[in-house]
Amino acid sequence: MAGLLAGQTALVTGGGNGIGAAIARGFVEAGASVVVADRDAAGAERVAKEIGGRAMALDVSDEAAVAEAFGALKGLDTLVNNAGLVPPQRRVEEIDAAEWDKVFAVNVRGAMLCSRAAVPLMRAGGGGSIVNIASITGWAPDPKLAAYSASKAAVIAMTDAMAQDLGPYRIRVNAISPGTVASEALMGRIEGRAKARGEPVEDSLARDFYSKIALDRLILPEEVAKAAIFLASDLSSAVTGGITRLDGGYMFFPRRDETQPIVPTM
Ligand SMILES: NC(=O)c1ccc[n+]([C@@H]2O[C@H](COP(=O)([O-])OP(=O)(O)OC[C@H]3O[C@@H](n4cnc5c(N)ncnc54)[C@H](O)[C@@H]3O)[C@@H](O)[C@H]2O)c1
Repeated sequence: MAGLLAGQTALVTGGGNGIGAAIARGFVEAGASVVVADRDAAGAERVAKEIGGRAMALDVSDEAAVAEAFGALKGLDTLVNNAGLVPPQRRVEEIDAAEWDKVFAVNVRGAMLCSRAAVPLMRAGGGGSIVNIASITGWAPDPKLAAYSASKAAVIAMTDAMAQDLGPYRIRVNAISPGTVASEALMGRIEGRAKARGEPVEDSLARDFYSKIALDRLILPEEVAKAAIFLASDLSSAVTGGITRLDGGYMFFPRRDETQPIVPTM
């Protein structure tokens, strides 16, 4: 990947932790100058310091703050809309409307605000790439996660619409739909659930996750970073409106017999 993003300036929202931090790290390794933008100012500082990037404290759902932050940038080649919120699991009758609005404010409105603010910068530079981090839940919604799943389906639709709007300016817009990524945030939720059920984490992973993933394992944050580098680089120069499932072969239904090992048929 070395040199693929040489000379680029990129901004990664939610870059202070998890997948965003892995993307910021991968981008620097590929030669980009990276702005690590996060509501978690300490996280942004920590990652920026580690990778030699620039930290920016930013709440992507705050319209005025986004306009000001992007207005201060000199140029921008790639924007990664990665900042995201996962609300607590709730059945439909338990949904809290204010919580619903907050999820959409960050996951959808935040990505829209940052994309809108990036357009003049990218146009001035002759083009650019916007990479939205959606989710497999935008395709295969999770029970008790209506707000999150619907917000990621909105990101997928928004990606396609914006790709059409921005194509004439040579700005490409793509989305990555990760499956289950072993970020600290997700592992924390899985461990909490396993503890509440009184079972080992590995049992919980095998039943709830591996049984639905063809590769039989979780995705690594670094693997999402590799796809983001591809979409930011010239390797994907003809790819726009693309929605990449990055889920290890997520199956919408568990394998029928989970006890059977995976045996190659040829
Ligand atoms: N972990 C997974 O399995 C998984 C799967 C599919 C999609 N995703 C998506 O990937 C992205 C990153 O997830 P993660 O697992 O690394 O989670 P994470 O919680 O570790 O990281 C999310 C980051 O976004 C930041 N953030 C939240 N609200 C913000 C706001 N208003 N403004 C700016 N920053 C804000 C947080 O501070 C945090 O640094 C999210 O969009 C998530 O929906 C994750």
